[in-house]
Formats: sequence, structure tokens, C-alpha cells
Amino acid sequence: MTDIDDTHTDLYGPVTDWANDFDHAVPEYNERAHEIWAEFQATECPMARSERYSGLWAPFSHEFVHEIAYDTDHFTSQGVVVNTGRPMIEAPVGPAPPITSDPPFHNIARRLLLPPFAPKVIAEWEPEVRRLCNDLLDRMGDITDGESIVDGATQYAQSIPVNVIARMLGFPTEDEELFRGFVHDVLERINEPVEERMQFMGLLDAYLDEQITDHINNPRDDLTTYLMNVEIDGNKLSHEHVRGSIVLLLIAGIDTTWSAIGSSLWHLGTHPDDLSRLANDPEVMTFALEEFLRAYAPVTMARLVKEDHDFHGCPMKANDWVLLPFPAANRDPAQFERATEFVIDRQVNRHGAFGLGIHRCLGSNLARLELKVAIEEFVARFPSFTVDGDVTWSVGQIRGPRRLPLRVLATS
Ligand code: HEM
Repeated sequence: MTDIDDTHTDLYGPVTDWANDFDHAVPEYNERAHEIWAEFQATECPMARSERYSGLWAPFSHEFVHEIAYDTDHFTSQGVVVNTGRPMIEAPVGPAPPITSDPPFHNIARRLLLPPFAPKVIAEWEPEVRRLCNDLLDRMGDITDGESIVDGATQYAQSIPVNVIARMLGFPTEDEELFRGFVHDVLERINEPVEERMQFMGLLDAYLDEQITDHINNPRDDLTTYLMNVEIDGNKLSHEHVRGSIVLLLIAGIDTTWSAIGSSLWHLGTHPDDLSRLANDPEVMTFALEEFLRAYAPVTMARLVKEDHDFHGCPMKANDWVLLPFPAANRDPAQFERATEFVIDRQVNRHGAFGLGIHRCLGSNLARLELKVAIEEFVARFPSFTVDGDVTWSVGQIRGPRRLPLRVLATS
């Protein structure tokens, strides 16, 4: 388990006014997210603003999030994780293509990544993911019904995606802890001075340079080799492009799915009727999977404003950050019936958990596979459990439990 580094310098401190001094990196935000979104969605202009991060906006309605996500004329993806600085590698490529790329380059960089994430390729990973989940469950040791407490986040959810993406990239799985550290640095330590951020980003780049060199010296068939050999118009990708795409896959592949698995377990551990339905009627998983993704979407992305822009009366300035809280859009009553309820067999579910617009998640087949298998195996082993103890939530744009004590009430 990655220990959270509490020694860092938080430049901003607590929030007292969510509408005018918004900050998603204070612990209270992810803890109370559903409440905060509902409060904004009940107002006439569901948009928060802040001077923090040198200018930040946060829309909370499906309509606003949808409009910004599709508007690549006024908003650039050059930076997708809000922080105190601004990206040094400019659009259209950006530091982690294709997520940081704008049209027309975005489409070129995205197409390169489609084959390794195609449904058939990903489906082959299912037995491995099941085996991994069962290993983790076995490692929890002897369980006594009604007495044993396991941590659904640290002993289970956090290890599944990291292991799969490390193996896809051909990186040592023993470095699992290191990867979680990188993810924590990039996604959670966002309110630190630019110099500190540059320091830990430098460590990530250095690690990836080593891995790329190792792939040159010891060629093997994996995603890193694929990226090193794939071509655009007859030319191999630059070293920076290869490394940037690996940064993206490592970060996008780990924290997102780990958070989705953890939040789904949290839901089941606090809603016994849904847990019992899933345990007794596994077929409902087809719908439950999409409802976990809608109701507990983990990923909020960001954009930068290209030039001064009046957005529905909000005077956005060039280089302001704009958050895209897809999770809030997924719970907007103006878009979904019974939006704030978890409806386990919801039939129509056009959620935006994987994003809206041209950057829609490329790893969604893998994410769905990992989430489905992780929940199926957990519920098959522990058909009854309940959240018992203090839950800790992540900080920042990816929302999910980081400590999740679950008391096992029944084993199969
Ligand atoms: C439950 C898990 C996941 C969720 C909720 C999720 C969500 C998202 C979202 C919201 C975006 C859009 C970003 C934007 O608009 O700026 C995105 C993009 C992306 N995701 Fe995921 N993701 C998940 C898992 C994964 C996994 C496992 C991978 C691969 C290992 C992955 C790879 C990507 C890539 C490469 C993009 C960029 C696509 C582009 O820019 O065209 N994601 N994801």
C-alpha cells in the first residue's frame, strides 16, 4: 500500500466557499462529492470558480460538461490534470498523446492505440484477471464469518489494474508499489509548487527511460515494443511520444479502474439488497456493471481555455483550467431518471463515465473486464459483507476509496 505523503506543501488550504473558491484537491470534496454536485445542480448556474491554480472553473450539469467536452475550438486538452503550473509541451501533441492532443493530431495518435485495446485482444485477458482476483482473495488468509475484516481497497482493488497494465507494458510487476506512487504523485499532489511537481515527474520519466532502454536491449512482444515500432506515415514515433503514451497508459490504466472497483465494493457493502441481488442473480451484472460506472464514475478530466471566452455568462480567461466532472454529469437529474439512486437493473444507461467527445476512453474494454471480473469474484467468495470502519477517499480528479474496511458476513 502506498503511504500517502503528508509532508508536501499545500499551497491553498481548506475551502469555505465552494462556489467562488472551489478546490477538488481538499479531502472534503471527494468525501462529500455527491452532496456538493446536487447542491450545484439545484442552482440556476451550476458552475463553480476559483482563483486557485491561477484560474479554475468547474461545471456540474450534464449540459455544460457535454458542451465543453465536445468544444475543441475553445478548449484544449493540452493539460488534463489541474495543477499549479501549465504544460510545457504544447498542443497538438501535448505531453501524453493522445489524451493531451488536439485535432487533427489527436486522431492520428488515437488510431495507433486502438488495435492493442480492441475487444478481442482484451477478452483474452479474462482468465488472467480471474486468476489474479482469486490469488488476492486467497492471500486474505483464513476468514471467519462475522469477524474477519478485509480491506477492499488495499488488499484487493488497488492490485488488479496495476498488475494487468504492468504485464501489458512488459514492466516488472514487482514495481507495483512504485507505479502506485507515481499515480499518487501525478494525480493527487496537484496543489504543490511547480518545482516539486517537476521533480517527481522527472523521476517518472527517468523510470520509463530505463524501461524503454531495457526493451531496446531485450526485445519482447508487448505494448511498449508495439509503441516503439508503430509508425505514422512511415516514421517511428519520437522517444517523447512513446514515453508520453506510456505515462498515459500507466496512469489511466491504474487509478481509474482501481477506484471503480473500490467504489463498487463500497456500494455493495452499504446496500445489502443490491449485494444480495447480485449474489443470487449473477445475470443482473450486465446492467449492474453500467450502473456502477454511471453512479460511481471515478474520472474527472480537465481542459485549458484557449482564448478568453464567455461561456454562458462565465468570463473564462485564456489558460484557465476547466474541470470536466463526468461523474457529476452522470448524476444530473436533468439528464437521468432517478439520477441519484443506484438502480441495479437500469435498462437505459447512456452514461458518460468513459468521457464524452473525441477523447472517449480507449481502455474501456479493459476497464469493463477488470471491473466485472473483480466484482464477480469478490461476491462469489464473499456473498455477504458490510462496510465496517473508517473509509478514506482519494484526493483530486479520480474518486475512489483508498481504505475500505469490509466485515465479511458470509463466505461461499
Ligand atoms: C473504470 C475505468 C476507467 C474510466 C472511468 C476511464 C475514463 C476515461 C475518461 C473519462 C477519458 C476521457 C478523457 C478526456 O476527455 O480527456 C478516458 C480517456 C482515456 N482512457 Fe480511460 N478510463 C478507465 C480506464 C482506462 C484503462 C484501463 C485504460 C488503458 C489501460 C484507459 C486508457 C485511456 C486512454 C488511452 C484515454 C485517452 C483517449 C483519447 O484521448 O483519445 N482508461 N478514460
